[in-house]
Amino acid sequence: RAVGILISGRGSNMTALVEAMQRAPGPAHPALVLSNRPGAGGLETAARLGVPTAVVDHRAFPDRERFDAAVNSRLAEAGVELVACAGFMRIMTPVLTGAWAGRMLNIHPSLLPLFPGLDTHARALAAGVAIHGCTVHEVTQELDAGPILGQAAVPVRPGDTEASLAARVLEQEHRLYPRVLAAFAADPAAARAGRVALFAAGS
Ligand code: GRF
Repeated sequence: RAVGILISGRGSNMTALVEAMQRAPGPAHPALVLSNRPGAGGLETAARLGVPTAVVDHRAFPDRERFDAAVNSRLAEAGVELVACAGFMRIMTPVLTGAWAGRMLNIHPSLLPLFPGLDTHARALAAGVAIHGCTVHEVTQELDAGPILGQAAVPVRPGDTEASLAARVLEQEHRLYPRVLAAFAADPAAARAGRVALFAAGS
């Protein structure tokens, strides 16, 4: 299935997804990387990997719905069948989430349902959790609340800072997301039923 990847920034998760799909051609292949920010570093990486790119600059639209409709059009033009959000920092309206219901995934840097929203690593440290991690879930209209497809557990270590914890979680994001995307592209129902559980070394 043709995958569209939505990014806003450096795109390290996008890179992990594209490299995994290119390394072992399977049920999913990268069809488009789309950024809402023209300066997103991930655009260059995607081009270097030979994946078509597009920019839909949110600042050019008067409201979220019209931005979302433009994103939909670009995804449709590229023949996208499945969407993977990867550090896509926009609140989506039903124009986008409704169009892709059951066909849109996201990665979130916490063990949902803990810490939806922003600043997850700082909040995990402040809460004193011993285990943190990341989650790949289906996107629904409620932010960071769709059905969970996979999670990776990451230990919090003494002396961890937001940056050190973020780096340890990011490594697991790069392991988790390609596995879940491949499983979901192959068989969504089986992926929903058999959630992926990963554990960082030492956890
Ligand atoms: C990742 O931690 C992702 O989980 C979060 O934003 C970050 C994006 O990083 N939503 P990248 O652009 O994939 O490198």
